[in-house]
Amino acid sequence: MVDSAAGSSAGNAAGTSVGTAQIGVTGLAVMGRNLARNFARNGFTVAIHNRSYAKTASLVDDHGDEGTFVPSESVADFVASLERPRKVVIMVKAGAPTDAVIDELVPYLEEGDIVVDAGNAHFPDTIRRENALREKGLHFVGSGVSGGEEGALLGPSIMPGGTAKSYESLGPILEKISATVDGVPCCTYVGPDGAGHFVKMVHNGIEYADMQLIAEAYDLLKQGLGASAAEIGQIFAEWNTGDLESFLIEITADVLQHVDAETGAAFVDIVLDQAEQKGTGRWTVQNGLDLGVPITGIAEATFARALSGSVPQRKAAVGTLQAHAEPWDVTDRDAFIEDVRLALYASKVVAYSQGFDQIAAASEQFGWNIDRGAMARIWRGGCIIRARFLNRITEAYERDAQLPLLLADEYFTGAVGNGVQAWRRIVAGAALHGVPTPAFSSSLAYYDGVRAERLPAALIQAQRDFFGAHTYRRTDRDGTFHTEWSLDRSEQPA
Ligand code: 6PG
Repeated sequence: MVDSAAGSSAGNAAGTSVGTAQIGVTGLAVMGRNLARNFARNGFTVAIHNRSYAKTASLVDDHGDEGTFVPSESVADFVASLERPRKVVIMVKAGAPTDAVIDELVPYLEEGDIVVDAGNAHFPDTIRRENALREKGLHFVGSGVSGGEEGALLGPSIMPGGTAKSYESLGPILEKISATVDGVPCCTYVGPDGAGHFVKMVHNGIEYADMQLIAEAYDLLKQGLGASAAEIGQIFAEWNTGDLESFLIEITADVLQHVDAETGAAFVDIVLDQAEQKGTGRWTVQNGLDLGVPITGIAEATFARALSGSVPQRKAAVGTLQAHAEPWDVTDRDAFIEDVRLALYASKVVAYSQGFDQIAAASEQFGWNIDRGAMARIWRGGCIIRARFLNRITEAYERDAQLPLLLADEYFTGAVGNGVQAWRRIVAGAALHGVPTPAFSSSLAYYDGVRAERLPAALIQAQRDFFGAHTYRRTDRDGTFHTEWSLDRSEQPA
């Protein structure tokens, strides 16, 4: 159904209009179009707008029967067609295009109106925009939306930031269109200003780690067993019935069993092995460095993509760098598959544990007060990293909201502990046989590092003091000290 825009004279002062739409979407490429349809299918009257009217018209032509749309050609009419406080969802490319749309909208908005950026914005931009709009009396909500095109249409996971006040009227609408798990919406208020986009960024970082770990498991099974893509696909399908059950494992099973129509080869074998990215993983790693949080799984995954795309370096190395390793000849097939499964699960828990540490550190730094258990809860459905074991993470934070390390929760100590020997066999085997497993290996190294009673960091402190008088603390008493290395080696309080 199509409603005509109310109060539609161009340039109409916003305050004089009487709109009927409960929510508006501007930016009608695939994601925006599907979000608008999702709102409409859930009974909301949706104002729609796009820079070029053709996309607006085609949405109405193709899907006008799914609900009530109010199409507008101009920004003025679009804003005028909305109920107050107006809620406008922007779904355009992150960066300059988002600023351009905000600048166009703002003159027509009035105090209390809510602007939602549902794109993959970098959270410092969101903080900046929130500040600027707050000064004008507007609410700016940076919201993570995950689930790709299908999620946008059928129910995404939604991570809105901004003011708690804006969530009072916006929240119920977003919760209605989000995915649900056990009747619980995969949407909740995350925290002030950039919190929503920050959490979405970490979601994507974890997504990178999860994908890399799955790719390494595939490679291990391929090289260890000499198995075909289709056979490995069946192993993943089997894994998807247990603890590893997740969207990414499910689609991996599907992709591996897909055959290229043109060549008859396994599809995965005809795809160029250079992984790309749009940048959210890189932002996550950059922020991990800024906060000093060791998100090694996400970092290795991001660098593994970079290595795959390092074409000149790979060309120079292939056939030149010697492996001095025997091919892997696994004798006990079932035991090996189980080892890979356990190592994958353990490495995955490390990646999530690190990601949740990053959320905790940012929450502390920016004063966001993010509830990590709630984040795990809204990631159970709709999003790319949706997985059965997110329930376990929510339960862990319910047991202890201040849990300092997810890996140390009683459930995960058991679940990961059961697989540690398998994990060691796999990482050692991969090293012996020359199979690159950066994410599996670094996750095990993190596990051993974080559980070590004493780390060689003591030596680093001693070295720093030796060459730069950077000082050190002692294990046996308080204070900061410096040793006069080039003089009499006496110790001075610093
Ligand atoms: C989601 C995804 C999505 C992301 C793509 C591509 O949650 O729906 O995270 O937001 O943009 O997965 O990411 P890369 O191109 O960086 O791999």
